Amino acid sequence: MQATWLLAYLTLGFAAAETGLDGWLRYATLPCSTQCRSQLPVNIIALNSTEASPVYVAGSEIQIALNNIYNVNASIALNQCNSSSSVIVGTIEQYRQTCGSTVGIPELDEDGFWLSTRGSKIQILGQNERGALYGAFEYLSMLARGNFSQVAYSTNPSAPLRWVNQWDNMDGSIERGYGGESIFFKNGAIVDDLTRVRQYARLLASVRINTVVVNNVNANATLLTPQNIDGLGRIADVFRPYGVKIGISLNFATPETLGGLDAYDPLNATVVKWWSNMTDQIYQRVPDMAGYLVKADSEGEPGPQVYNRTLAEGANLFARAIKPHGGIVMFRAFVYNQLNESNWEADRAKAAVNFFKPLDGKFDDNVVVQIKYGPIHFQVREPTSPLFANLFKTNIAIELEVTQEYLGQQSHLVYLPPLWKTVLDFDLRVDHKPSLVRDIVTGKRFNRTLGGSAAVVNVGTNNTWLGSHLSMSNLYAYGRLAWDPTADAQGILQDWIQLTFGLDRAVLDTITNMSMQSWPAYESYSGNLGIQTLTDILYTHYGPNPASQDNNGWGQWTRAGPKSIGMDRTIQNGTGYTGQYPEEIASKYENIQSTPDDLLLWFHHVNYTHRLHSGKTVIQHFYDAHYSGAELAQGFLDQWESLRGKIDDERYAHIRHRLDYQTGHSIVWRDAINNFYYNLSRISDTAGRVGHHPWRIEAEDMKLNGYDTYTVSPFETGSGSVAIVTLSNDTVGTATTTLDFPSGTYDLAINYYDLYGGQSNWQVYLNDKKVGQWVGDAEHHLSHTPSIYLDGHSATRIKFRGVKISKGDTLKIVGTPDGDEPAPVDYISVLPEGVVD
Ligand SMILES: *[C@@H]1O[C@H](CO)[C@@H](O)[C@H](O)[C@H]1NC(C)=O
Ligand SMILES: *[C@@H]1O[C@H](CO)[C@@H](O)[C@H](O)[C@H]1NC(C)=O
Ligand SMILES: *[C@@H]1O[C@H](CO)[C@@H](O)[C@H](O)[C@H]1NC(C)=O
Ligand SMILES: *[C@@H]1O[C@H](CO)[C@@H](O)[C@H](O)[C@H]1NC(C)=O
Ligand SMILES: *[C@@H]1O[C@H](CO)[C@@H](O)[C@H](O)[C@H]1NC(C)=O
Ligand SMILES: *[C@@H]1O[C@H](CO)[C@@H](O)[C@H](O)[C@H]1NC(C)=O
Ligand SMILES: *[C@@H]1O[C@H](CO)[C@@H](O)[C@H](O)[C@H]1NC(C)=O
Ligand SMILES: *[C@@H]1O[C@H](CO)[C@@H](O)[C@H](O)[C@H]1NC(C)=O
Ligand SMILES: *[C@@H]1O[C@H](CO)[C@@H](O)[C@H](O)[C@H]1NC(C)=O
Ligand SMILES: *[C@@H]1O[C@H](CO)[C@@H](O)[C@H](O)[C@H]1NC(C)=O
Ligand SMILES: *[C@@H]1O[C@H](CO)[C@@H](O)[C@H](O)[C@H]1NC(C)=O
Ligand SMILES: *[C@@H]1O[C@H](CO)[C@@H](O)[C@H](O)[C@H]1NC(C)=O
Repeated sequence: MQATWLLAYLTLGFAAAETGLDGWLRYATLPCSTQCRSQLPVNIIALNSTEASPVYVAGSEIQIALNNIYNVNASIALNQCNSSSSVIVGTIEQYRQTCGSTVGIPELDEDGFWLSTRGSKIQILGQNERGALYGAFEYLSMLARGNFSQVAYSTNPSAPLRWVNQWDNMDGSIERGYGGESIFFKNGAIVDDLTRVRQYARLLASVRINTVVVNNVNANATLLTPQNIDGLGRIADVFRPYGVKIGISLNFATPETLGGLDAYDPLNATVVKWWSNMTDQIYQRVPDMAGYLVKADSEGEPGPQVYNRTLAEGANLFARAIKPHGGIVMFRAFVYNQLNESNWEADRAKAAVNFFKPLDGKFDDNVVVQIKYGPIHFQVREPTSPLFANLFKTNIAIELEVTQEYLGQQSHLVYLPPLWKTVLDFDLRVDHKPSLVRDIVTGKRFNRTLGGSAAVVNVGTNNTWLGSHLSMSNLYAYGRLAWDPTADAQGILQDWIQLTFGLDRAVLDTITNMSMQSWPAYESYSGNLGIQTLTDILYTHYGPNPASQDNNGWGQWTRAGPKSIGMDRTIQNGTGYTGQYPEEIASKYENIQSTPDDLLLWFHHVNYTHRLHSGKTVIQHFYDAHYSGAELAQGFLDQWESLRGKIDDERYAHIRHRLDYQTGHSIVWRDAINNFYYNLSRISDTAGRVGHHPWRIEAEDMKLNGYDTYTVSPFETGSGSVAIVTLSNDTVGTATTTLDFPSGTYDLAINYYDLYGGQSNWQVYLNDKKVGQWVGDAEHHLSHTPSIYLDGHSATRIKFRGVKISKGDTLKIVGTPDGDEPAPVDYISVLPEGVVD
């Protein structure tokens, strides 16, 4: 019996547990007919015998893949091209030297490649070794999806800069990272074991990312001690065979904090010399470093303005030090000051253009200004940053965010490319000519040679890299879009699904459907109509807290009052932000009639009763969207559960757990936002849902013993604003009630708060028979930043399905507190089939 089982496991590729470590490069076994076998190469020819070369790596990768997917044991030959039935990988130049003519192969740009699966030899030829490796991964992506098409084509990158940024701190933590600790740093130094770095290099190379910035933009000067420079050298040595270069983030004040100078004025000759020497030291150890990334005069970081120098003078300091080595400087446009909300014209969204437009043409030609997609901060929807339409003599790159800082922190499914596309495909109409953002950032529109994109990724030591298997679609898609921003978001997704979960049609359709609905769903149950995400911007950036946007200097205001809401960014009566766009776009947003509903509150301050183009009022749109968004999210779990048995148990369970959590948290979002705006506006939901929860029992209304009531803050994140907590952390609490619902079968949903700092235990009894129990340990199983309070971050729902209840039954919750978590409970929903409350 055991032997039979073993055999079954071996033949069914999906049955074996999968950790996610290989991401989309799993090379899972596929069936192969005689016809299929006849098309597989049995010899691999790699045109470079140096083990650390990308071409050699490409050869090995093809060998591994052929073996894993099709059980073919291909041999590798080096530097010769006479074997038949082979795949040959190298550069165009190597091919010409070893094999002869390259007639018929088009001219390639840097990093481009040619792939031909026609004829007796499969050709994978790069403009350089990096391109050859990209071509190999492209070929393997076809094989891994069972695609044996006869193809012959070349492809070139849209832009030379295809970067990722890691916000890793030297102590091993990662700012806005949700997948574990740093793979690069620990205790102020570079880690010894770089195995995970090699695995990351492989993933990045396979989606044609050519540079990784390894440390946080909020940079620590100790990165540049001699020991750490040597450590950076070790990191670069690991990335190099995969064609990935490293970059580093610099702290502007380093000459003072690390170098012992008494100033860091960018125009001071001693400071200039210090940076030049430091740059030489780094290049001695990392001769092919791509460049520096600089966040200066931003959110408390030091910069040139400290010395009354311009941002351009600050950027050029580094540009000149690095120029002799061929490096570049990515200089972030994320510069803004604290503002006062009582000033109707103050507007953080205007800051980047105000700071950078006057400097156009003043940056050296190896400086690239790195611009976030929107003018504020990675929100669920923002208009395109107007800075893209204000720099014509400056190199620029777009900054995206793969890590879901404001978009669910990997505990919510959100496939991001549809959001990115709203910006990449946006036409800014500069000089009344087509001016798509994607053509501006690649340099085409204004004829710049340097340009491209950077994305904040923040993978960590977790086997899932980002904290959730499904979030890896965003990293995969980012690379694909950096190469070709015209590529289709759904098409990219489907390639990723097949590579990650196999070729089953139901798996493909289901994950496609869920993913394509995920950003619209998230936007619906978080912030609508361009009001921003409405997460808590002062604490975790995770759960709902609309009030945190206003009455502080951060300038992410909503100006929500009892009658009206939105930022008036018009020229006629507001901040004048619309005037930063080219005329056609400015007039579109200036006029409320031509402003699209989904950005209405970004540009206009209106009454809650204002009617949208859709015909709904603003407030009713909020209510409806929150109900429909949460409902969509409930569907994700059902859809996923339909795939049971078609996906290995380990990944199935991991994802199911997150989607189950998301169904609950989307309801937390729904109710919090609706409660908040109902409380402000006092305008009722025409559908009668907001504030009416016929299937709920509030914990504070139950008979309490060892529990006491607790007023939740912010108020809208508790049902009725009140929850219960145990009297102390060593008192067991009980809450009891008599059920007054018609006898029948129900799902029990219990909303509680899962805090950081303790693992309480809850048990639910029906007439003294235990029907469920759970532990408050989400901080160890979910990826988002935990909270130490009862709030929108910690609010969590657990469900027990199919509980038989008779009218008059006694329901009891027993909460055992632990540490700083007082077994908090908000409410219980007793849900008939099909009801979500
Ligand atoms: C082979 O790779 C090494 C390391 O990348 C490189 O230095 C060398 O030039 C390559 N050889 C050829 C023939 O291209
Ligand atoms: C693969 O081929 C090599 C020789 O070409 C042989 O030594 C090795 O045992 C083979 N491996 C398998 C798994 O067949
Ligand atoms: C292929 O060429 C190499 C030298 O370029 C030679 O050593 C080898 O024997 C040749 N193999 C065949 C099968 O002709
Ligand atoms: C993943 O990362 C989280 C957050 O950093 C951590 O708490 C958790 O233990 C990690 N899980 C695994 C399986 O490594
Ligand atoms: C910078 O790194 C050093 C060494 O690890 C550490 O002592 C220091 O606290 C760090 N500074 C900041 C601002 O994080
Ligand atoms: C330049 O910096 C050096 C070192 O910090 C300092 O001693 C010197 O006074 C500065 N020179 C000027 C002109 O500010
Ligand atoms: C250059 O930097 C190195 C390493 O920090 C230091 O040892 C050396 O003295 C510096 N040279 C100059 C001329 O400042
Ligand atoms: C910068 O300029 C302001 C006024 O323009 C002046 O008050 C300040 O002292 C200057 N700071 C430095 C470091 O030169
Ligand atoms: C684009 O810039 C290059 C120099 O980088 C110049 O030779 C060329 O004429 C420019 N083309 C246009 C259309 O301005
Ligand atoms: C115009 O701006 C003022 C603030 O200066 C504001 O109170 C008023 O509501 C705005 N009017 C309109 C029509 O938006
Ligand atoms: C908004 O409501 C106020 C009364 O609360 C009213 O005076 C004003 O005219 C309304 N504005 C619009 C544009 O309807
Ligand atoms: C209760 O909290 C205190 C202080 O935080 C802690 O020392 C103690 O261990 C906790 N007791 C329990 C049972 O968790």
